[in-house]
Amino acid sequence: MTTPLPAPFKALAFFGLSSALPSLAMDIIAPPLRPTSGQIALARRIARGAEQPATEPNSDCTTAIDAAVYTDPDRFVREMDCLFRAMPIAVAVSALLPKANSAVTHDGFGVPLILTRDRQERVHAFLNVCRHRGTRLLDADEVVSAPRIICPYHAWAYAGDGRLTGLPRPETFPGLDKETRRLMELPVREAGGMIWVGLDRNRDYDFSLVEGPLAADFDALGLSGMHLYARRTHHVPGNWKLIMDAFLESYHVQRLHRNTLARFFADGEGAGDMIGPHQRSLVTRDFDADEVDIEDWEQLRRVGTYTYQMLPGTVIVASPDYVNVMTLMPQDVRNTLVEDFMLIPEAPQTEKAEQHWARSWQLLDGQVFGQEDFGAVALGQRGLDSGAVGEMVLGTLEQGIRRFHDEVEKRL
Ligand code: FES
Ligand SMILES: [Fe+2]
Repeated sequence: MTTPLPAPFKALAFFGLSSALPSLAMDIIAPPLRPTSGQIALARRIARGAEQPATEPNSDCTTAIDAAVYTDPDRFVREMDCLFRAMPIAVAVSALLPKANSAVTHDGFGVPLILTRDRQERVHAFLNVCRHRGTRLLDADEVVSAPRIICPYHAWAYAGDGRLTGLPRPETFPGLDKETRRLMELPVREAGGMIWVGLDRNRDYDFSLVEGPLAADFDALGLSGMHLYARRTHHVPGNWKLIMDAFLESYHVQRLHRNTLARFFADGEGAGDMIGPHQRSLVTRDFDADEVDIEDWEQLRRVGTYTYQMLPGTVIVASPDYVNVMTLMPQDVRNTLVEDFMLIPEAPQTEKAEQHWARSWQLLDGQVFGQEDFGAVALGQRGLDSGAVGEMVLGTLEQGIRRFHDEVEKRL
């Protein structure tokens, strides 16, 4: 006889990992969270069957993207200036810096950053440059405990909030006002379990969406309280927009992911909407609308995966029991670094739990993203670089890509 599993544990069975359940039953505590009205609205549209793609010939729903947008180096420079330097960028998840007095470096966006959580637990983003003679201050790919950041050259010392707290032989800098020698700080916000940075100190940034409706959705998904299980940076030999494209349509799921994810989803069953220029999508498996209470978060997440595709280059995939956050860091027109952060409800307490999450990490980061999606991106770039096609055609299941490129275009 089997005992019915409580809802959060049923979610685990969704990814074929139910064998890990017995030992996990004490480890996972479902947070008492509710979906936002926007998240519910997407699910209702799917439940009503309102999302059938248009199939009429000439229904004006197919469209094309110029191949040059993925290969033109001049356009790439404009994209960096008008998008990546102009909008708040999600550089990391909050869980990367779980403790006060910690710091980590971040170089993927071409601006040398130090991210800190200061003594008061506030997050900061500084240029990784000493205010004495400009030396790179910190080399720390992994998070370090750093009540002080001390320059390796002459040992000027800075606090986690950027203050210059001390220097050797201070009498040799007569009249030095330490207040004018703080670390150079970039605009930063911590909201919805993410750290958002404006990469240019001389610009103003609009954080209203990331602190408002996006944070509300991410808080509903519980991102702020989650534990960072693993992170990894992939080098993807493809234009950053090809990577976004791969997360903006579900047309490929039954094909590219036929051996991994396909069985968890119905073909093309999804709905999406916009939050400003950002996209929110829900893809589901077949479910009986009379049997699933859409306002019950556990039931809803069991049948559907919410994803967010945020301008310029952040993707969130909220699987039933864990969340992946990917930040795209374009290096040049045909090379992109993608950092994948996997968030889980809490740190694994048992060997069984550890193995369970290790399998999930291997499935999604290793196979689905690392081999399948990024592999397809690399092949796409090679095809486009051949110059053989002038444009790519998009079907009615790929309209998220159209909307994304329209938003990019508006800003160039
Ligand atoms: S350059 Fe940093 S202390 Fe001199
Ligand atoms: Fe995919």
